[in-house]
Amino acid sequence: MSAIVLIGAQWGDEGKGKVTDFLARKADMIVRYQGGNNAGHTVVVDDRVFKLHLIPSGILYGEKQCLIGNGVVIDPAVLLEELDMLHQQGVATDRLRISPRAHVIFPHHRSIDRAEEEYKGSGKIGTTNRGIGPAYTDKAARVGIRMAELVDQEDLAEKLRTAVDFKNRQLAELYRSAEQIDYTQVLDEYNGYAQKLAPYVADVSLLVNDAIDRGQNVLFEGAQGTLLDLDHGTYPYVTSSHPVASAACTGAGLGPTKIDQTIGIAKAYITRVGEGPFPTELHDAVGAALQERGFEFGTTTGRPRRCGWYDAVIARYAARINGLGCLAVTKLDVLTGLDTLKICVGYECDGEVLTEFPYSLKKLARCKPVYREFPGWREDITAVTDYNQLPANARNYLQHLAELSGVPIAIVGVGPGRKQTLALRDLF
Ligand code: GDP
Ligand code: IMO
Ligand code: MG
Repeated sequence: MSAIVLIGAQWGDEGKGKVTDFLARKADMIVRYQGGNNAGHTVVVDDRVFKLHLIPSGILYGEKQCLIGNGVVIDPAVLLEELDMLHQQGVATDRLRISPRAHVIFPHHRSIDRAEEEYKGSGKIGTTNRGIGPAYTDKAARVGIRMAELVDQEDLAEKLRTAVDFKNRQLAELYRSAEQIDYTQVLDEYNGYAQKLAPYVADVSLLVNDAIDRGQNVLFEGAQGTLLDLDHGTYPYVTSSHPVASAACTGAGLGPTKIDQTIGIAKAYITRVGEGPFPTELHDAVGAALQERGFEFGTTTGRPRRCGWYDAVIARYAARINGLGCLAVTKLDVLTGLDTLKICVGYECDGEVLTEFPYSLKKLARCKPVYREFPGWREDITAVTDYNQLPANARNYLQHLAELSGVPIAIVGVGPGRKQTLALRDLF
């Protein structure tokens, strides 16, 4: 029995969906605890590709309990679309439950997300435009509408009235936007969603704590990544929630003494979508090759992902912030064919070499990566099923990557498929 928190150790899209699906085999319950449909988690099972935004990636097994915790923000239309997609694929979803404390995303959140990005111009964050930031802003300002209110017709009518009046003023007077929200139309629409989602609403905290107390295996599936964390990421180029491991406790309603293990997911290189600093970013042919071979285009927005070398400064930072017990290194296969591989071991800045990730964006902008080089390999590794079958240079690269990151490797990904996963140690 154990409770494991799985998090992104970089800027998101590390392969959390794939590793969650892999570990979910032995889990009884899989829980999302933050973020919303800014997340896009891909799971490939045989020839079928599933892109999940809100529902935990363990859903594909059918019989596992899947929970959406209070820390998640929910766009009901997206959630219903996702449920439909799963039903069409023959996946059972009757064991999905949603916290009544989770906040709901409304059209005005999406409008404000767009308006704010436009207003910021060249200073924009490059958000997913899904209304995530504005929904969390309302939550913190104590004017949000939760699932509990969504499924109560009277509450919804009253709270939506107040919200729409205020947001329409904000759109017109602050952002000079022509967009206005039609209260009656949104109320009708959301009453329809409420009817369909009401059967799924249940006390998630109670379910999680019961499962752990009964000795079940619980897996918490983080969204985004450590460097997109509101507190610990490259602020303000971050998301508005806490993708770090400790947020599993607040985002699902359990205490830190209940968590046994934390696993960080990291690509064998690194990517970022949207704006913000990225010390090891490559603007050359290698960067283009990583983007092409790794199909580095956003799962949610389709935007090209910026690519760069693996950054051990970031890995050590993620290990500290999340208390990582082990790493899952994904997309090792994408590095095949490159003559020389590089790992960033420090940043040269103002005449000294930094080994800790700086908090100042100005300082980060002046940082030049210091690299160690490793020989590459040419053998196709996508059919490898055992770590020891990997080419010696691939094992050498991984061994140094683990040492430089200060965290042992538990899982290696050699392709997008469920079976293209090498387990170096059992986690459950
Ligand atoms: P997430 O947001 O962290 O779940 O990651 P995404 O699903 O957004 O992006 C990861 C992409 O890499 C997806 O297209 C996965 O199918 C793919 N992927 C995951 N692991 C591997 C791997 O080991 N090798 C390759 N080639 N692709 C992988
Ligand atoms: P998964 O779970 C990668 C990025 C956006 C933008 C910033 C803020 O698939 O790893 P937001 O819409 O959250 O306000 O955007 O965060 N971002 C992600 N990047 N993967 C994600 O999720 C992301 N979710 C948000 O690109 O830079
Ligand atoms: Mg993703």
